[in-house]
This record gives sequence, C-alpha cells and structure tokens, in this order.
Amino acid sequence: MELPLYAIAFAALTSVAVHLLFRQRSSIRQIVGPPSPSWLFGHTLQLRLSPQYGDHEFQWLKQFGSVYRLKTCFGQDQLMVADPLALQYILNGSAFERSGMLNVMVDLIFGEKSVVASKGNEHRRLRAALNVGFTATAVRRYQPIFEKMAETILEQLDNSPAVSTDIFPHLTNATLGAISEALFGTSIKDLGDEFVETSFQTIELSASRFKIKALVDTLGDWLPIRFWRVATHLPTTTFRTIRRGSYLTNQIGRQIVRERLDAARQGLEMNDDLFSLMWNSDVADKISGDDIIAQMRLIFLAGQDTTATTVAFGLLELARNPTFQEKLRAEIQDALGTSAVTYDGMPLLNAFIKETVRLYPALPISDRIAVQDTTIPLADQIITSTGERMSHIPVLKGQHITLCIAAYQRVESRWGTDSHEFNPFRWLDGAEFRTEAVGPYANLLSFFGGPHTCLGWRFAVLQMQVIIFQLVANFSFAQVEGELVQPRFLSNLLPITSSGEKAVPLSITRI
Ligand code: HEM
Ligand SMILES: *[C@@H]1O[C@H](CO)[C@@H](O)[C@H](O)[C@H]1NC(C)=O
Ligand SMILES: *[C@@H]1O[C@H](CO)[C@@H](O)[C@H](O)[C@H]1NC(C)=O
Ligand SMILES: *[C@@H]1O[C@H](CO)[C@@H](O)[C@H](O)[C@H]1NC(C)=O
Repeated sequence: MELPLYAIAFAALTSVAVHLLFRQRSSIRQIVGPPSPSWLFGHTLQLRLSPQYGDHEFQWLKQFGSVYRLKTCFGQDQLMVADPLALQYILNGSAFERSGMLNVMVDLIFGEKSVVASKGNEHRRLRAALNVGFTATAVRRYQPIFEKMAETILEQLDNSPAVSTDIFPHLTNATLGAISEALFGTSIKDLGDEFVETSFQTIELSASRFKIKALVDTLGDWLPIRFWRVATHLPTTTFRTIRRGSYLTNQIGRQIVRERLDAARQGLEMNDDLFSLMWNSDVADKISGDDIIAQMRLIFLAGQDTTATTVAFGLLELARNPTFQEKLRAEIQDALGTSAVTYDGMPLLNAFIKETVRLYPALPISDRIAVQDTTIPLADQIITSTGERMSHIPVLKGQHITLCIAAYQRVESRWGTDSHEFNPFRWLDGAEFRTEAVGPYANLLSFFGGPHTCLGWRFAVLQMQVIIFQLVANFSFAQVEGELVQPRFLSNLLPITSSGEKAVPLSITRI
C-alpha cells in the first residue's frame, strides 16, 4: 500500500478543510438528480467503483435525462453531462479544463511540456508539429507495420492453449510495437525490457479502486500542482515508477533524437516515422529535439492500452455473437479474394469497430472544472426541480462537471431504444445518427472532440482494422465456459474477469 502517499494526502486534508468553510455557492442546485447516499463520498463510489461500469450511471441517465446533478466527496455538487450539444460546447471551447487528480496525473505522468498537458498557443504549436505523423496519408504508410504486428499475434496464438487464452497481453505487445516502430522507428527489443516493463507499470498506476482514493482525488483540485511535483520525490511505489519511467523515456528519447540528427547530417535517407516526418516538414523549425522528447512518454502510453482494450472488448463481443462473427469472416474472406484489401471499404468490419468504440470508450467519464463563468447550451431541454424548462445551464467559475462519454453514446434519443445493446447493424441501416457532438470518428466522442481530440485516432482505427481482419481471418473466437468478463472503471474502462484480473480469456481455434 501507498502509506506515505495517503499520509501526506491526509495531512493536507486538514489544511484544505478551509475549502469547505469558504465553499462557493452552487449554481446548479435546481437541477435534479438522485439523493446522495453519503456526505463523505456522495455518489462517487456508485459512479466509479461499481462492479460493472455504469450499473448506477445508466439508470440515472434513464431516470433523469442527459444532464443531472450528483454529489461528490464532502457534499460538493457535480454536473453530469451526456447531452451532445453541451459536450460539444465544453470540449470545443475554453471555459473548462481537466480537473482533480486526473489533471495531476496527466501532469506527473506525461509531463507539463507534453501536448496533452499544454494549453493555448503552446498546445497549438506542439499539435501542429506532431500532426504530420498522424494525417491520413502518414497513417496509411504505417499499414505494413500494423500488418507485421498482427502476424506476430497469429504466430503466438498458434503456440497458445486453445481452451483458454488471455488475448490481452498479445494485443498490448502489438500496440506497443506499432507505436514504437511506426512513430519512433525503433523495435520493442531496442527499447529494452525495463522500458517496456515500466511503461506497463505506469499504465497500472492510476488503476486503484480503494475507497480512500475517492477522497484523495478531491485533493487534486485543492492542492497546487507544485505540491504534487515536489511529492514525486517521495519514496512511494507510485512516484518511483513515475520517476523511473520519465528517466528511461528521456534517455531513450535522447538517443533516438541523436541518431536521427546524425543520419540527417550525413544525408542518409529518412524514414516514414514521426521523427523523420517532423524534420522533413515545414514545421521543423518550430519544434526542437527537447520538445519531441517531451512527447514520447505520452505517445508511448496514450495509444497502447486504449487500442488494446478496445480490440479486446470487440473480440469479447464477437465471442458472444457467433452469427455476427461468421458474417464478418465471410466479408473478410471475400476481401481476401480480391487483389488488394481496402479496409475502409468493408461495411461489416467498420460497423463492428464503430459499435465497439461506441459501447467501450476507453475514457467513459472525465472530470472538468469551469475556469470562468459560462452558460452551457443543451440539445435536449431539461426540467428543473422547480418545474422550469431549461435549454441553457448557467454555471459559475469553479463548478465541477463530468463529461459522460459512455452515457452520451447510449442516449436513446440519438442511438435508438436498443442503445445499450451491441448491434453493429445499426451502422448499416443507412441511419445517420443525428447528433450535435462532433467527434472525429462516426459522431462518437470516444476520442473526445475539439482542440485536444485524440491525435492518434486514425492510427488507432487503422490498427484495429488490421488486427481484427487478421485475427478473424485465421481464428475463431468463443467464450470460455464459466468466465464472465465485465467492463470496469479503473481510470480507464478495462475488461475484468470474475476473479478480478485484467484479462480477456477466450477460446481461440484455427479456422
Ligand atoms: C482506441 C484507441 C484510443 C482512444 C479511445 C483514445 C482516446 C483519447 C482521448 C479520450 C484523448 C483526450 C484525453 C484528454 O484530453 O483528456 C486522447 C488524447 C490523445 N491521444 Fe488518444 N486514444 C486512442 C489511441 C491513441 C493512439 C494510438 C495514439 C498515438 C499513437 C494516441 C495519442 C493521443 C495523444 C497524443 C493525445 C493528446 C492530444 C492533445 O491533447 O492534443 N491515442 N486520446
Ligand atoms: C469550435 O471552435 C472553433 C474555434 O473557436 C470554431 O471556429 C468552430 O466553429 C467550433 N466548432 C464547432 C463544431 O462548434
Ligand atoms: C510480450 O512482449 C514481451 C517483451 O518482448 C515478451 O517477453 C512477452 O512474452 C510477450 N507476451 C506475449 C503474450 O506475446
Ligand atoms: C491468415 O490468413 C490469411 C488468409 O487466409 C493467410 O494468407 C495467412 O497466411 C494467415 N496467417 C497465418 C499466420 O496463418
């Protein structure tokens, strides 16, 4: 256990009790919501610690609509937002910023100079430079690397037991390998075992489900970020892992940058990886070697588990829906009969990926705080406790809100009355999903939207297309008897077995 961490947190708790005394008025009192089960924890345990993600939240969505009020720790009001227009407004504008421990962890793990932690002009500058490696054209060039990674999975599966194989580590190895080769021109082997091990450990860090963490989370907003940066020098496992990860990434980053610069000086041919692309583009003079090194931890960590868990949930759904699996395989076999496979031209494959991304967003909820007074517009009116209809919600600076991404993707008025079911055919009936929330992919917000939209969304989609194509072409997937895998919230949405492990055991046999 992280005793020193919690000890400081609680010492700090005393000093921040002041916050409770000077608590500001809440402008969202009149918005309806469920009664709070406790002053200390509010609804946080029901929202974040339910055995299966959404046990309570999706009930609240049905009962109170797409905007409602919850209580968090110490009786604070929290606005839950699943309304498409409201989400669009919050994600695309500048009135809200990431909050709480989420904000602290982003700063500590990815670094204050990373694109995800930066703001305003600095964010735009980094984003423009990095973008050259993530355009549609750039991503298409990574396809052979993704295919090679998928083949490695196939070979490994041939040597795994058919009765029950955990597909998850195979997927994370492939997604880490893809990032490493496509973006940094380096194989996993060259990164070294310790780097790989530390990056897996870093991903596990925020996955604690202790009740006390809910209280510590509140401190994220109440203690300055400087406090946490100093705290990283403490000898706890968490901070040690963060320090080690940061040290190793900087070392490896420096080495890669040096090699690339040498190659460029000697006029050697450059590759298609992110580094080479940035140095060959017209943004080259706007970004330094240090800037790039500062993005490496983020890029290594952001795309690995997210893509792997999404594919894992997809395979679980295939195992549960054998008829659909057969149809998908037939489409894949047809495509194999043609001269060249174009993944984008496969209706079932893409409907399947969209449906998986809809039901299993890697970040199902995300906390934000208003940094100015503002008014949130709504697509669907709400009725307040005083019977008033509202199409706009005024909020004051300091108001906490939660972006309810998973709930938005289940709002019945947008996705239909079967919105909680896995049904890829909804994407094929020619139905246009009417929604005001503009995400980069299929009107979904799993990659969020606005200026901080996931930079790697095309990278992730192509990789998912390739992996699923290859896996389904060669293997058939069935559920393992007696194993129940459920989506659970551990800072990300993760597949968890009945024995509490992060794993996706499947019965996998050669076609
Ligand atoms: C299914 C897979 C993925 C999902 C669901 C996903 C989701 C997200 C989300 C929700 C954010 C916004 C986080 C926030 O602002 O709080 C984000 C940001 C980001 N993602 Fe992804 N991601 C995926 C794959 C990838 C991949 C493969 C890469 C790169 C190789 C990547 C790189 C990034 C980067 C660099 C950012 C920060 C962008 C910025 O702040 O401007 N992601 N992602
Ligand atoms: C998002 O914000 C930008 C800049 O303020 C604006 O130009 C754009 O129209 C907005 N997009 C949407 C869909 O609201
Ligand atoms: C994943 O990669 C690591 C390091 O290369 C290797 O030791 C491990 O066996 C791989 N696991 C699977 C399931 O492929
Ligand atoms: C997977 O299936 C495809 C199409 O049938 C085939 O070309 C390929 O060789 C298979 N891969 C492996 C590793 O068996």
